[in-house]
Amino acid sequence: MRVVLGVGGGIAAYKAALLLRLFTEAGHDVTAVPTEAALRFVGKATWEALSGKAVRTEVFEAVESVNHVRLGHEADLIVVAPATADLLARAAGGHADDLLTNTLLMARCPVVMAPAMHTEMWRHPATQANVSLLRERGVHVLDPAEGRLTGKDSGPGRLPDPEDIFAAALSFAGGQNRDAEHDAGTAPEGGPLAGRRVVVSAGGTREAIDPVRFLGNRSSGKQGVAVARAALEAGAHVTLVAAHLEVSPPEGVEVVKVESALELREEMLERTASADAIVMAAAVADFRPARRSDAKIKKRDDAPDLPIELVRNPDVLAELVRGRDAAGTQQVVVGFAAETGDEGGDVLAYGRAKLERKGCDLLVVNEVGTDRVFGLDENSVTILSKDGAAPEHVAGSKDEVARAVVVRLARALEAR
Ligand code: CTP
Repeated sequence: MRVVLGVGGGIAAYKAALLLRLFTEAGHDVTAVPTEAALRFVGKATWEALSGKAVRTEVFEAVESVNHVRLGHEADLIVVAPATADLLARAAGGHADDLLTNTLLMARCPVVMAPAMHTEMWRHPATQANVSLLRERGVHVLDPAEGRLTGKDSGPGRLPDPEDIFAAALSFAGGQNRDAEHDAGTAPEGGPLAGRRVVVSAGGTREAIDPVRFLGNRSSGKQGVAVARAALEAGAHVTLVAAHLEVSPPEGVEVVKVESALELREEMLERTASADAIVMAAAVADFRPARRSDAKIKKRDDAPDLPIELVRNPDVLAELVRGRDAAGTQQVVVGFAAETGDEGGDVLAYGRAKLERKGCDLLVVNEVGTDRVFGLDENSVTILSKDGAAPEHVAGSKDEVARAVVVRLARALEAR
């Protein structure tokens, strides 16, 4: 396999030398493309000696070989390690100001980026927005590891171990090379959900009033999509039943589009029959207009108001749990709860009551409000469990929350 190893300008650049070794020792053909800043940490000679090739950083070097076009075009895999905050920003912004960013723009192969930076830089909304954008475009941005950073500080921001980057990169490259048709919904093997079938619902339903109007909600679908991605990365076959989403579903997931709560119910009932686990992350409308007009409703001077009568939608989550219990299967069902808390109870009290009422195995409770959670990349949730395990509080990016949910899901499946 032809591998381009991009190296960003961070102290962790020395670990990329070990990563290069892992690729060459496994028989891959590696071209190292450090940035100018990377060469301040590890010099050209190291990259040239380890890869056995000349090393260039700029577009205007070795112009005769049209390097900036050729490298990206011919690569089977691009791995960027360490990906600094600046490099992530340049990649997200589509910049082409050095050989590495040119190569990234030309690439049609899997791209894996392994970030490394100080925790504050990693958590900064600008970096998180860049990471989200890159992930939406199909770039595999790994999460940084936690631990000791350059100075005395510690937290998320360490470059993952070269062995882990190597393994992740190979699995992404392998996934791409398999037959796409057979592969829809399948991810790398060997994770905690390997061989499991997981159905995730995500996004907000839309309840039609007439052909142009609907009742909707503020759900962006980001958290549900992140759960689908995390389940895929954990090795599951994932079906995403997608109501309205503001983000693209991850590559490799089988996507079933729906609009209304009734459509979502139908697809969920059908697609979950043989699933090992269900995650209901969709914001399903509790009500729908009693009547849907086939023609656009016109405003009329003789009737200034337009009352809309609403009827209850079925509770899909509760129905799936009942179905599971009736069939006596070992399916694990995860619900989400959006709560605001009020004078009648706090967010957790409402969450516990909902877990009880709906009968699901895990309930992911988040506190919402007009300016909280919806559409943001960060989330803060408490995972409640039917088996009485202590509530687990998780705060971080929606991907981090999703991975925590998937860990609990895998544990619940194992315990069956
Ligand atoms: N849900 C569902 N069908 C519905 C409404 C909700 O399957 N008609 C699912 C959601 O996907 C989520 C969970 O139920 O997993 C909780 O949804 P939420 O709207 O927070 O709770 P409600 O059941 O609507 O309860 P309440 O109105 O009391 O908050």
